Amino acid sequence: MGLCFNDYKKSADYLLERSGRKPEIGVILGSGLGHFGDTLEDRFEIDYRDIPNFLKSTALGHAGKMIFGKVSGREVVCMSGRFHYYEGYDFEELSIPVRVLKLLGIRALILTNAAGAVNADYRPGDIMLIRDHIKLMGASPMRGANIDEFGPRFFDMSKVYSKELLKVAAECAEHSGLTVHEGVYFFMPGPQYETPAEIRAIRLLGGDAVGMSTVTEVLTAAHCSLPVLAMSVMTNMAAGVLEQPLTMEEVIETANSIERPFSDFVSDIISKI
Ligand code: HPA
Repeated sequence: MGLCFNDYKKSADYLLERSGRKPEIGVILGSGLGHFGDTLEDRFEIDYRDIPNFLKSTALGHAGKMIFGKVSGREVVCMSGRFHYYEGYDFEELSIPVRVLKLLGIRALILTNAAGAVNADYRPGDIMLIRDHIKLMGASPMRGANIDEFGPRFFDMSKVYSKELLKVAAECAEHSGLTVHEGVYFFMPGPQYETPAEIRAIRLLGGDAVGMSTVTEVLTAAHCSLPVLAMSVMTNMAAGVLEQPLTMEEVIETANSIERPFSDFVSDIISKI
């Protein structure tokens, strides 16, 4: 791969020039949660395939476009369709989207995903605000030559999940009609769902929810000092909690059933940050 600062800049300059926008907030939408992108006012869309040096989306339930628009007068850029390790990208390549968003000038990044509930007190349809994560598997997207323009070689991970953004989200949760928890997201590489024994191990290690995305984006954001608010929609109870096997259909069905109130929740948060 070996991208340099100017390669990322080329992607960002293309987007800024073509859209004529200056987004303040970036949003990356998870599987089956694309509705938020349709609610933006004054929309302007660009296909990922038109962006120089960008990645191409292959995942089911992911659209593959950058949507510029407004929420309560705030300029937002929304990635409808994200990139996952299980699609075949290297961890290093997964740094591209967030670095490009950073170069668009955003001051906060909101990440959403579909996840399995590991915490037995959670139910499908609940939301978990991510307080912290655990990633024990695979390389860092920041592996390889450091790009000093983005951040230092060694960087802190204790503050990336912004306490201020979590507070705003918790306040918005109160009148959202949603059941909202705060917990720890455990990254697994997929594409297979976990085994029941893996889920028991994840619970012992302190994970409340499990999923196959988001963490590479959070690491990239931490490196370039971009504050993050990340949220999981519990689309299913994790493997072994219930008798039934896990399916992609169940995940998409639950995500779609909560898409509208969840999208309102995200808009409400954006209007207050
Ligand atoms: N495991 C991993 N990823 C997921 C799950 C799960 O149970 N549900 C939605 N994404």
